[in-house]
Amino acid sequence: MRVKLKVWRQAGPNAKGHFQEIDVPEVSEDSSFLEMLDMVNHGLIEKGEEPIAFDSDCREGICGTCGVMINGEAHGPLPGTTTCQHHMRHFTDGATLVIEPWRAKAFPIIKDLVVNRSAFDRIIRAGGYVSVDTGSAPEAAAIPISKEDADTAFESAACIGCGACVAACPNASAMLFVGAKISHLAVLPQGQPERMERAVKMVATMDAQGFGNCTNHGECEKACPKEIKMTNIYRMNADYMKASLAEKKVPK
Ligand code: SF4
Ligand code: FES
Repeated sequence: MRVKLKVWRQAGPNAKGHFQEIDVPEVSEDSSFLEMLDMVNHGLIEKGEEPIAFDSDCREGICGTCGVMINGEAHGPLPGTTTCQHHMRHFTDGATLVIEPWRAKAFPIIKDLVVNRSAFDRIIRAGGYVSVDTGSAPEAAAIPISKEDADTAFESAACIGCGACVAACPNASAMLFVGAKISHLAVLPQGQPERMERAVKMVATMDAQGFGNCTNHGECEKACPKEIKMTNIYRMNADYMKASLAEKKVPK
């Protein structure tokens, strides 16, 4: 098949960006989207031009590094699918594919399609862990957890930290990501001792990174490749409210 790319090129964080048009006259429909970009990069290198910078690691939908906007959609047109899991057969022969990086103030562009998502790391560092003694593996296995709670925790823990929710949201809100990270610990017994403190610290850090607020557009849920639900946001808001009302003293 043949496709035309309009791909965002930006030499560095402060450089002026532009779209470069690249004709891809022949690509297998069985190639993955990233393999197509690899092929384009080989061609650019052979011509002595700068290859397109993009992130990827696992290429199987689990690491969260590969997200780009394809024709205005975070991770491309297939629901519940990361960029790396799209194959060229999911696009029309002769199509023009506009490829852009995540666009959000909290995710500054490093180069071309690569953005700095370390704001997410700072949110996790603020409380996305359990630091109390939870005992050894046999003790953990002895704690009864209902199937419903285990499933809820597992669904929230499926978040791969890709940032598509931020890129898709008109407010560039990170609340789906933060809600998922808070929820997967909030529904388990091991997460209870620090539950309120965790919500307050992670929400405060999220706000400090420059993400916007949720106004219920629902674009995050639609764009999420792991189909994380907005109920995670409601749970986070409930915990944050409870912690605020209790006026719990949380060290800065
Ligand atoms: S909630 Fe979904 S879209 Fe957002 S970071 Fe997690 S996996 Fe990616
Ligand atoms: S490269 Fe790991 S999720 Fe796409």
